[in-house]
Amino acid sequence: MRKKIVAGNWKMNLNLNEGVELAKELKNILDADKPNCDVVICTPFIHLASITPLVGDLIGVGAENCADKESGAYTGEVSAAMVASTGAKYVILGHSERRAYYHETSEILKDKVELALANKLTPIFCIGEVLEEREANKQNEVVKKQITDALFNLSAEDFSKIVLAYEPVWAIGTGKTASPEQAQEIHAYIRSVVAEKYGKEVADNTSILYGGSCNPSNAKELFANPDVDGGLIGGASLKAENFKGVIDGFK
Ligand code: PGA
Repeated sequence: MRKKIVAGNWKMNLNLNEGVELAKELKNILDADKPNCDVVICTPFIHLASITPLVGDLIGVGAENCADKESGAYTGEVSAAMVASTGAKYVILGHSERRAYYHETSEILKDKVELALANKLTPIFCIGEVLEEREANKQNEVVKKQITDALFNLSAEDFSKIVLAYEPVWAIGTGKTASPEQAQEIHAYIRSVVAEKYGKEVADNTSILYGGSCNPSNAKELFANPDVDGGLIGGASLKAENFKGVIDGFK
């Protein structure tokens, strides 16, 4: 059966020392009180090599992005192979902030996903509609297109290695969370889209995380839905006690 996962997305927060301290604190807390789900922290590139040896097997580590090219003259870029060489196991791809501010299209994301998989990284692939699309009731259409355009070129075997994260853009960092009913409805829809393409078994084994203002006070209610398999957590992942509160949504 599919995995339950709570993944933190630190975004562009915490300098190296602060990140190392947070990872250590989180490890100590989770050592003392084991989680009922997989726990992942996705950090800026420069933190990865310092943090992976600190957290052992208890916490998976991931990047927040990787390059769409294998290697070479791409000044400032970090490849999937470089991410993997730090011991990181995950990479967030297609986050709405990357799509909006850095113009990442499905074409680009398709290449990033392939490179991530070729380097044995698990992509946490983000999809989600903006407010105007939700208001026009177009959310299903939007997420279906995002999945189809960037992922449906994959073989069933490769698609099985992907974690999806539904993140309504209007809920990210706004304090406005999708209701548990809204989350369940669209997660079930996303699973049906996957089933239509790859069959029920692959769909049933795909973890679909919810992201967008998920915090210790709403995590339990969101995670209680049958098609919500965990969360991708921004703001609430920056303090160990808050992140633990979200992880405890599975207790
Ligand atoms: P948030 O961010 O939890 O701060 O809303 C979630 C995300 O962008 O992954």
